[in-house]
Amino acid sequence: MLRKEQNDLLTQTGPGTPMGRLFRSYWLPALLAEELPENDCPPVRVKLLSERLIAFRDSEGRYGLIDEFCAHRGVSLWFGRNEEAGLRCPYHGWKYDVTGQCVDVPSEPAESGFCKKIKLASYPLVKHGEVLWTYMGPPEKKPPPPEWEFALVALEQTFVSKRLQECNWLQAMEGGIDSSHVSFLHRGDLGSDALFKGAKGNQYNLSDMQPHFEVVEQPGGLLIGARRNAEDGKYYWRITPWVMPCFTMIPPRGDHPIHGHFWVPIDGENCWAWSYDFHPVRPLTKAEVQAMKNGAGVHCKYIPGTYRPLANKDNDYLIDRAAQKAGKTFSGVAGFAMQDASLQESMGPICDRTKENLVSTDNGIIMARHRLMRAVKALVEKGITPPGVDPAHHRIRSCSVVLPPDVAFKDGAKDALIAGLGVPQTTV
Ligand code: FES
Ligand SMILES: [Fe+2]
Repeated sequence: MLRKEQNDLLTQTGPGTPMGRLFRSYWLPALLAEELPENDCPPVRVKLLSERLIAFRDSEGRYGLIDEFCAHRGVSLWFGRNEEAGLRCPYHGWKYDVTGQCVDVPSEPAESGFCKKIKLASYPLVKHGEVLWTYMGPPEKKPPPPEWEFALVALEQTFVSKRLQECNWLQAMEGGIDSSHVSFLHRGDLGSDALFKGAKGNQYNLSDMQPHFEVVEQPGGLLIGARRNAEDGKYYWRITPWVMPCFTMIPPRGDHPIHGHFWVPIDGENCWAWSYDFHPVRPLTKAEVQAMKNGAGVHCKYIPGTYRPLANKDNDYLIDRAAQKAGKTFSGVAGFAMQDASLQESMGPICDRTKENLVSTDNGIIMARHRLMRAVKALVEKGITPPGVDPAHHRIRSCSVVLPPDVAFKDGAKDALIAGLGVPQTTV
């Protein structure tokens, strides 16, 4: 349970808020590279951390993320003409480059130098893997680029998608570190989803409904270990790293690609659920990529031309009560992504955490909230850089492993938890 002030603190990320300042310490995924496919392509509206922005790719291939509204009289630059190394407002022709600098005001004599004085807010936008990343904090504090393994491996080893989730980022993220729901909500899909089925670990997941959780602090966040019974008195451990503020990696199953998420606030009541899949040592197969594009695993199907899921709150997530009754799916909603999103959105746009009743399986969530609150306080009061900014904190992996009963998971899985490019994953 949280007090109302704590809930407000953690969920509000707009300009000037403490949590907004924390989020502005990191490189965040802003767009898929496919959204700006070529030079001078149409600009894209981007809302992040409650700021309305425009992303564009200029004639020289440079990416820009600038204030959405023209400095003249506030027209949305989404209508802009992307031409000759800049974005031109269609109202009176003012033109901006990728840094937000105004480079032309056609109504004023060039020698007046008027346009030099006009500059829109802008943030860097850089491509790593299939993702365009931005950093929205003070330029002098800009960290080195991110080093998440899924964005560093060869492009044929990785697949990334994003979907609109119509609730606050924190309740979505909390779903990602709550391994206990897998044995319930997703139980129908473990054996059938192309990107999950066949792993031995699935049996342990399904046969032990009372996992024991151990949470260990890490420099960048937490390691959340979920322990279930295996054979001969041994334990099956699923270890999920959470790196501040909003990154998780789900433990692998068999030789399937490893997947995980970022949850990035759009505003108080919406977030982007980013989902990636990668295999550390081999290209994804055609069948895997096709399954991902079809919405299997952690991905989803979309309303064509959008990143809004096809199953959404306006159609009750296409719930199938017969499938629910027959146990084909536990909740009646199809697919991991929308099973999670439907329930998380059902909590309301911002979950009221003053009313919850937490149990021991919620320890990961409790510790993550405390870690966030501590980091916000240290940043706001003392200017201390929060965990997860240092790229060293990104070089982490999830794993699934069977260990003897007397071995602590953080010792038994020590090497498996380090991301080593080209090193196979540890998985059951
Ligand atoms: S409003 Fe953009 S040029 Fe006038
Ligand atoms: Fe889930």
